[in-house]
Parts: sequence; structure tokens; C-alpha cells
Amino acid sequence: MTMTARMVTCLLVWAAALLPMVAGVRACAADDDAAAKKADGWLAAMTLDEKIGQMTQVDFKAFKDLGDITRLSLGSVLCGGNSDPDDITPAGWAKAQDDCQALALKARLKIPLIFGVDAVHGHNNVDGAVIFPHNVGLGASRDPSVVEKAARVTALEMVGTGIRWAFAPCVAVARNERWGRTYESFGERPELAAELGPAAVRGLQGDSLAAADSVLACVKHFVGDGGTTNGVDQGNTECDEAALRQIHLPGYVASIKQGAGSIMASYSSWNGKKLHGHKYLVTDLLKGELGFGGFVVSDWAGVDQLSPDFKAAIDQSINAGVDMVMIPNGPGQKNNYVEFIDKLKELVNEGKVPASRIDDAVRRILLIKARMNLADHPYSDPALKAKVGSAEHREVARDCVRKTLVLLKNDRKVLPLSKSIKKLVVAGPAANDIGIQCGGWTIAWQGKAGDVIHGGTTVLAALKEALGPGVEVVHSADGSGAAGADAAVVVIGERPYAEMFGDRRGGKDLGLPADDLAALKKVREAGIPVATVVFSGRPVLLGPVLESSDAILAAWLPGTEGRGIADVLLGDYKPTAKLPHTWPRSMEQIPCNPEDGAASEALFPFGFGLSY
Ligand code: GLC
Repeated sequence: MTMTARMVTCLLVWAAALLPMVAGVRACAADDDAAAKKADGWLAAMTLDEKIGQMTQVDFKAFKDLGDITRLSLGSVLCGGNSDPDDITPAGWAKAQDDCQALALKARLKIPLIFGVDAVHGHNNVDGAVIFPHNVGLGASRDPSVVEKAARVTALEMVGTGIRWAFAPCVAVARNERWGRTYESFGERPELAAELGPAAVRGLQGDSLAAADSVLACVKHFVGDGGTTNGVDQGNTECDEAALRQIHLPGYVASIKQGAGSIMASYSSWNGKKLHGHKYLVTDLLKGELGFGGFVVSDWAGVDQLSPDFKAAIDQSINAGVDMVMIPNGPGQKNNYVEFIDKLKELVNEGKVPASRIDDAVRRILLIKARMNLADHPYSDPALKAKVGSAEHREVARDCVRKTLVLLKNDRKVLPLSKSIKKLVVAGPAANDIGIQCGGWTIAWQGKAGDVIHGGTTVLAALKEALGPGVEVVHSADGSGAAGADAAVVVIGERPYAEMFGDRRGGKDLGLPADDLAALKKVREAGIPVATVVFSGRPVLLGPVLESSDAILAAWLPGTEGRGIADVLLGDYKPTAKLPHTWPRSMEQIPCNPEDGAASEALFPFGFGLSY
């Protein structure tokens, strides 16, 4: 058969289209080879002191002298939840990172530092950054593209400050809503972690770790943190291995497949043995069976919890497979980073930690740094820094917010509100409070009510903007003066918390603040239609809220972009989200997951959600 000119052209076009992919694949393989060569080159040149320095991550506030970064050839610095630099603007954060990086590059081998923060719902320690919905809301969206977009914008705002490592995503499967970290989980079912965890990894790491705007993901907390008995934070997950694998492992399997480069060990225990010292789970299962090729970082002083003897604790955790140790303490404090380095060196010289374990840990860290081309892009990116908090980024977050809101009740079709009403009352302490709207891990570790961050839009402001000057929008924090209005939006919610401070047990329950319930009651007494918006990190006890509200919108912890909530309240977006948790009627029903039997008595089932 003779080849016509047309056929030849088609072939050439086809080949031209295919070539970049083939080249791309070859380039990826070449990138990996180059990265491996670079990592091996560094490793071969390193002294034992430099290797142990590479395994040491120090909190920014632990330093008396940042020069220790150079002297000790430290591999990483973090800013823990409350260790922000004094200047928390994007410029201040960029300076903190860049100063630390410059000191790392002064060390003998000039191995770049990797700087880590808890960017768990946006670059949430930076004033003016865009704060996204916490994972519980992203779980309600059921939408991997929403999760990926949120993570990608988070990565861009991080790279603007030079920070290339996020301690996220948390792929905990929160099984007991008493747990203070329920909102960091995508929900009570493993399939949510398995689908949305990798989406977050994709968003953070981008198409390739080699890209200048990639951010290393850190999937956490390995493994079973959301399954502890009674939802005790850092508690004990009691189950057989089949249940551990079936419920708590899928998020890791999927995220590793997605190429996650780091994993954080959990404070919690499995059947009484702490994860930070669990060789079978961290080495045999995670690195062996699952083939995880990145590195494992400890949690904040997580190693210390293994033994009152710091050296014994180090021995157990490094031999279990922890590769980098997160150390909050500095000179003059207990279990500080100098002690860590000295004691680990002793353990190697005594043969208790094999040199091969050190080399494995260090090579894992170096390989990631080489694959990220950190040496080529060690500093903050001014162009991306200028886009922190940009209108473009906020629009992405607004769309995410819309897709996280679950409509639980809508009697008499009170929602969507008409835009041609004359007077709307917006009530409740949370109606105009960006801090409550964002929740924990926002600027401060625990978050806080009030104007905690600049640039956001509260529900009140969003409704005023959307309804315009033709509608009288009255703010009444305590709910008074609602009579005569066409309708009311009452915004209530949990006050911010993080980690163990959010645990609810021993008489503390998931009820809502009295001020909020009082405001709702007052508005109800005005006899007008009431739509209640609930900010919470988990299902809360609705109690009187149910009968006092014609409509109820579960908004979770939506972050700075309150416009997304106004979009749903006013019908510019029809609710699509579904519950990521079974919603209990009472504390006695918790845990109330489908498998626990109590779910059938629950107020709303997993997956529930109405629309217009
Ligand atoms: C915290 C958390 C962990 C966080 C780390 C650094 O205690 O358990 O999620 O990444 O410390 O702030």
C-alpha cells in the first residue's frame, strides 16, 4: 500500500504529539537518575555528624543562634503551630525561610534546607493568606478536583514565602467525633481518605516534584490516629490488623501511589505500642510491603514519648524506621536538638543504630531534596509572594466553600433566600467573626475568635455585598431586634480549637455555646423564617437548633471566603455536599459509624444532604 502524502502527514503529526510524552517519560526517568546521582554524591561526601544533622529538624523558636543551622548542617527547620516568626506577613515569612536557607547553604556541602509548616487549610500561618475549608468540609464535597485546587493554591502561596514542605494532608479516618482532630480528617469512611488524600498530594506536589512551585506533601499521621478508643487524641487504637488495614491504611496506599514524598508518624499507639517506635508498621509494612520510598518524619517531640530516657527513645524510633526527628527544644531545654545529635552519634558508635540505618534515612531525605531541585530554587519566589491572598486565589477558595456546605433541613423552602427582600437580620456571635469561621490552625495553633487574619469575608459582609444597598441587612450578634425582618440568618458554631484541646469527654460534650443558642432562640421568638448556619469541625449536638430553625446549613470550618456561603444562601449555587460523618443525636450514640450499629438511630446518616 503506497503511503499517500496525507497519511505521511498524519503519521508525522502523531509522532510529533507522542514525542514529548516519550521524551517526558524519558525525562522523568532521567530526572530520577540525576536526582539519585546527586543524592548519592552528597551521601558519599558526608561525615557522620553531617548525616545526623540532615536527620534533624529543629523548630524555628528553639534556636538561640540560627548559626547552628550551619554549624550542625541541619537538614530541616519547621515552624510549629505557635512558632511563627515575629513578622507574619508574606514578606516576614519569606525572610525567615530565606535567612535559614542562606545559613544552610553556608555549610560545607551546601545541602539545601527543607522548611516545613502546617499548611493544612491554606498557608494558614501567614497573615493575608487564603484560608480554605478544613478537611471535614472537603470530605463533604466528595470532589477530588476541589481538594486538588485548594492544595495547589496553598502550594503557590507557600512557594511565595520559600516554604516547600507542608505537613499535609491528614488522612486520618476519624471514627469518634469526640476526637479534637476530627476536622483534620476527610471523614469517617476510608474511601474518603483514599480518594481525597491523593488529590491533596497532587495539588501540593504538582505534576512533578522537580518543578519550582512544587511543595512536598507529608501524609499524616501514620497510622490509625483517627481510630483511638473514645477518640482520645494521641490515644490507643485497639483493633486487629485486618481492621487497621481496612479502615486506616487506604489513605496511605493511595497517597504513596500518587507519589507522596514524606509521611509523619502518629503519636497514637496500635494495641498499646506507640507508632513512633513501631518497626513492623513503619519499616516492614510502610517501607517494605507498601514500598514507600520517601522519608518518615516524627511528630513534634513524638520520639520523646517512647521513653523517659531520651537516648533509649532515639534508639527505638530510629531503628523502627523514623528518618527525620522533629525537635521543638533548644539549648537549655530538655531533649534538645544538640542532645539528639550527640546521643544518636553515641548510638551509632556503640553499634546500637547501624550505620546502614543512618545511610538509609539520610539517602531518603537527600533523594527528595534532589528530586525537588531545592538547590536550584532555595529561596522565596517574589512573583508568587505578591499573589498571596490574591482575588484569583480567593475565588478558588470561594468555589471550594460552596461545594462543602451540606443542607440538613429546609422546611417551607426558606432557602434560597430571595434577593428582593427588604430586610434581613444576620444574627449570632459567629456571623461576623473570621476567627470562628476559620477554626483551629489559623495564624495561631489553636486559632482564635475575632479578627485573627486579614483579607477574609465574614458571612455578614458577604451577605451585605451580595444583596447590595437595596436590602437592609442588620447585624444582631445576640439576636435581638429581629421582629419585622423578612428573614434571618443565624450563624452559630464551635469556638476554635486544635488537637487535644478539642477532645470532648468527661462531661464535656458537643453542644453549642450558650450565647449562640440564646441568639437563635431570640430570633425564633420574632416569628420570622430562620436559616441557621453551623460552623463546626464535626457533627455537633443540634438539640434546640433543630426546631428553632426552618433551614440548617452545615458549613464546617469554611475559612476566609464567606462569599461561598452567601452564594448558597442566596441560590447562586445549589447545595451539592453530603455528610462525611454520621450525625449523632446524643453523645451516647458516639461512635456512630455505619458499622457500629448506632448509626440507624442517628439524626442524619453518612452521605445525607439536601438540595434546592
Ligand atoms: C503537631 C501535630 C502535627 C503537626 C506537628 C507540627 O503536634 O500533631 O500534625 O504537623 O505538631 O506542628
